[in-house]
Amino acid sequence: NERPDLHIQDNKYPTDQWTNTPDTILSHVGRSLYLDENHPLAITRRLIESQFSAPIFGNYFEKNPVVTTAQNFDVLGFAPDHPGRSRTDTYYINEKTVLRTHTSAHQQAYFQQISRNEKTKPEEVGYTVVADVYRRDAIDRSHYPVFHQMEAAMLWKRPEQNPLSASEETAARIRADLERIPRHDVVVEDPNPTIHPQRNPLQAEHHSEAEVEAVAAHLKRSLERMVIKVFTEGSKAAAASSGGKVDQEPLKVRWVEAYFPFTSPGWELEVFWQGEWLEVLGCGVIKQELLINSDVPNRFGWAFGLGLERIAMLLFNIPDIRLFWSKDERFLSQFRAGQITRFEPFSKHPACYKDVAFWLPQAAAAGGASAAGGAVPFHENDVMEIVRGIGGDLVEDVRLIDNFTHPKTGKQSMCYRINYRSLERTLTNEETNEMHEKVRTQLVNDFSVELR
Ligand code: PHE
Repeated sequence: NERPDLHIQDNKYPTDQWTNTPDTILSHVGRSLYLDENHPLAITRRLIESQFSAPIFGNYFEKNPVVTTAQNFDVLGFAPDHPGRSRTDTYYINEKTVLRTHTSAHQQAYFQQISRNEKTKPEEVGYTVVADVYRRDAIDRSHYPVFHQMEAAMLWKRPEQNPLSASEETAARIRADLERIPRHDVVVEDPNPTIHPQRNPLQAEHHSEAEVEAVAAHLKRSLERMVIKVFTEGSKAAAASSGGKVDQEPLKVRWVEAYFPFTSPGWELEVFWQGEWLEVLGCGVIKQELLINSDVPNRFGWAFGLGLERIAMLLFNIPDIRLFWSKDERFLSQFRAGQITRFEPFSKHPACYKDVAFWLPQAAAAGGASAAGGAVPFHENDVMEIVRGIGGDLVEDVRLIDNFTHPKTGKQSMCYRINYRSLERTLTNEETNEMHEKVRTQLVNDFSVELR
């Protein structure tokens, strides 16, 4: 089953046993939805970029999603056995090349750019970068295998010799920059100390506590102001569309400790919006090793990354992530550059769900463990990939509705419910049955399951 080279954006990549990227995924490369100024993803991008702009930040995008495993994982300090590297989670082009799973794959290149531009653009010490990213994942209304992230970082210079001994002066400069970011009056929950000795330690060989406290404070206030800006715009749009009657609960944000291989300490920012805590972004103090390896050994700073769809769905009240890819004028014509407006759903077409139940072959323990005895290991994301390959955007969600192990034989049975629904038209019974039949057949062919 040799597959020919993959052609992606004018480049040719050889395939190998790692290749698991189907053409249906590759067909999304190059749409650049975030550049289409009247598209909700572009409007969201602009809104966030307005908070991180020149001269401090250059605003960039990366059109080619193909990166090396070094860029996506190694350089960022992902452990060799990190689950993100697995073929069930990541689209491999071949052993050494993947579709980026996050915009952090470009961190090193942008740090190197800051170093190169040191003389010509000394004020530009930060960047934002927007790009399409790819992950094998569940299928539902908020997950799509291709989505968009924005990442940003900002760096401060430190003395070349003995930065730690001058760390009080570095911290003072950062605090002065912090004072230039206006305060706000939104309630912020931030119960944990900046540094947690086990989970989020100080990078003690490199940083002093004073520096890290200063950078963390700068990061937090910058991001609080950004989400306040974004969600205030969203509330205005919600109020306008409902004649002013929205539960105008005041906005609240909270900081939650988080771990990323390339930051320490690190956090997630959650926003309380319309009755729910929502995780909006990940961020942290950049690991110094990464900066040392990226031509900026005498700088340090913060980085964050966020998903644009997540935020755009809230702002524009878009109920299904597949809509971002729609070419239907009834969707596209609703949005205008610079305006946050509430999406008016066009008629919702009927859903049609169908179940598929099967026994797994004896040795194929579910969950991705490698199977003994030759059976193909079974991972839920592989089911998702089969369904996506056949149903494409006609599948709204796929859910495991039953999973049991027979008490006597030890055989495992699973039942998935596939919800077929087009966003644009009513599906006929025949075409739904035809897709479902193909899914059943491919499950048997790929995993030797026994249909029930
Ligand atoms: N790349 C991370 C993700 O996709 C987000 C992140 C970016 C976290 C930068 C910290 C700093 O989850």
